[in-house]
Amino acid sequence: MSQRNDSKSILPSQRSAIAPFYVMEVMRAAEELEQAGRSIVHLEVGQPSTSAPSGVLAAAKAALDEHKLGYTAAKGTPELREAIAAWYSTRYRCVVSADRIIVTTGASGSCVLSFLAMFDPGQRVAVLEPGYPCYRNDLQALGVEVVSIPLGHETSFRPTIAQLEQVGPLDGLIIATPSNPTGTVLSQALLSEIWQWADRNAVRLIVDEIYQGITFEPDELTELGANDPTAKSHTAVSISDDIVVFNSFSKYFSMTGWRLGWIVAPENLCQPIERLAQNLTISAPTLSQVAAVAAFDCIDELEANVGRYRQSRQVVFDGLQQAGLTKTAPPDGAFYYWIDVGELCEELNIDSQTLCQRWLTEAGVAITPGVDFDLRNGHRFVRVSYAGSPIEMEQGMTRLNHWLANSK
Ligand SMILES: Cc1ncc(COP(=O)(O)O)c(C=O)c1O
Repeated sequence: MSQRNDSKSILPSQRSAIAPFYVMEVMRAAEELEQAGRSIVHLEVGQPSTSAPSGVLAAAKAALDEHKLGYTAAKGTPELREAIAAWYSTRYRCVVSADRIIVTTGASGSCVLSFLAMFDPGQRVAVLEPGYPCYRNDLQALGVEVVSIPLGHETSFRPTIAQLEQVGPLDGLIIATPSNPTGTVLSQALLSEIWQWADRNAVRLIVDEIYQGITFEPDELTELGANDPTAKSHTAVSISDDIVVFNSFSKYFSMTGWRLGWIVAPENLCQPIERLAQNLTISAPTLSQVAAVAAFDCIDELEANVGRYRQSRQVVFDGLQQAGLTKTAPPDGAFYYWIDVGELCEELNIDSQTLCQRWLTEAGVAITPGVDFDLRNGHRFVRVSYAGSPIEMEQGMTRLNHWLANSK
């Protein structure tokens, strides 16, 4: 008779030994405290607290009755891909064929599909540090060598060409604008310069535009007098057809749980990505795809959300000033403040991870420590998300200031 196998014999692969996404762990710890009856203000979550736009909700309800909701083509429904292409034309004044748009399961799906389609094990791909941790972790799981380009206050957390020159031969470069966690926006001029450098050096460029639309400075295009006040100039799509661009319905469109994003891919990458999508996911969620077409008709609602972020951003700015936490990256976009808390940590003789644990348990405020985003300097940084309502931000800042006044 065969002996029953004990689960210790199922060894995980070496490639799965990547770092956790700590933000999710902070969220879990905060939820556990809430379940135990504590009141927690959430300044850790990187997702809108608003629901999907009303047009999307109505379209989803109708779709449940009217559609079979089977699989779609791996690249996404033609209606949604056309709607995304039309969005680039109306909002960004830039022409892109729907053939180059591939619908994915969020920008997370865009990462996996693009990285697999673009890079082989052993190739060198650069990421910005601080930056979104999943790029590094996904690439490591795929056996790609990840090279960090350190960013700091000296360059306002923007990469320079001199820095790109310094890292040696690269196969790829990934940048995000606006950035998570810094909120920094790269001007169209800097993006073009980076593209020209990448093109000259045969470095494949990925630009993650997931926070596009959530920006707070006047746009160059509106300043030039475009009729439509929501018209924007910033997109890597208008710089070159050879840049791989990610976007998502998660942030500006307020649809995180719908798990829907897209890639604008160079023509020669469309088929490889499509083949991978066929095999890895078959298609992105059909209900979400059907409903998301309506998102582009809900711009007033979505711009109202941006107005709310603007208010929350001001409340957090005032609260941080009062707390003396003023060393931040320029918060031009997204909904984050990336704050250097090094001096406070030194004063308390702790790192930012312990500081965040203390803020959570002692002040009831959940804030993300910087370790996720920056392996070098994350121990002296935290990320505050102002995706919640201005009232929540007031509460969070009051609690933080009260804790600081009593705990130093
Ligand atoms: C910069 C960046 N890229 C990609 C993602 C993945 O988002 P999603 O899969 O929800 O589209 C996130 C999520 O926070 C992000 O901040």
